[in-house]
Amino acid sequence: MPSAFFFQSRILSSNRLESTNLMAMERLRSGNAMHGDVIMATYQTSGRGQAGNTWYSTEGNNVLVSFICKDIDLEPERLPVLNMLVSIAVHHVIANFFPVGTAIKWPNDILVNDKKIAGILIETTLSGGMVKHAILGIGININEPYFPSSLPFACSFHSITGQYYDIDMVFKMLFEQLDTTLSRLKQVDFIELQKSYEPLMFGIGVKRYFRTPETKFEGVIEGINHHGQLLIETPQGPLTFNNKEIVFDLSGH
Ligand code: BTN
Repeated sequence: MPSAFFFQSRILSSNRLESTNLMAMERLRSGNAMHGDVIMATYQTSGRGQAGNTWYSTEGNNVLVSFICKDIDLEPERLPVLNMLVSIAVHHVIANFFPVGTAIKWPNDILVNDKKIAGILIETTLSGGMVKHAILGIGININEPYFPSSLPFACSFHSITGQYYDIDMVFKMLFEQLDTTLSRLKQVDFIELQKSYEPLMFGIGVKRYFRTPETKFEGVIEGINHHGQLLIETPQGPLTFNNKEIVFDLSGH
């Protein structure tokens, strides 16, 4: 495979793992990881999602993968850039199949027709004030036939079209796209990146409903700032939010 960011990759595939992110973390901790290592599984017994959630995936139906970025020495202020680049790369892969209706729900969920098709969990380690390593955990729902009723806003390639897809092919596209997109990690200008990211955002420029632990309100997403915060224009004026501080009301009211 061509390589711009990952140099040389070892693809480590397993049938069953607790979590590919956890495995990646263990390999980093034990000194067994190389930059560009890719951990894949056909099933995770405890797939990790954002905010301590678990990631739903039945055996052999989906892309479950973690990319190890070792010794990247990134300024913590550039973390939003890493997040945005990874989201753009995953969006690009999915938009190849679903050119209409694919969007990034800030900060980094990928939706098709308002339902979540992919999730991204980036876990980092800090050293000397810098982001030393990053694990890019990505789950893409490919052939998942059904989702439990607890996940009414989840979808897969298969649930959208009724077709079955080649999971390895989607993985290969993802690998190549990430490799190219992340080659801009150190030098990309934030304003330039903002211009690529914002048009892909779910709900940009549209009046929607949002919830915080305290309240529910309506507003229009304006974009993101260089801290990676979400900017929402509301009747009370502009507001900014960090990840986890706000929930989009996907039911539309
Ligand atoms: C989210 O909650 O949206 C993030 C989900 C990330 C899931 C992927 S699946 C592969 C990798 N390994 C994990 O344990 N989680 C990520």
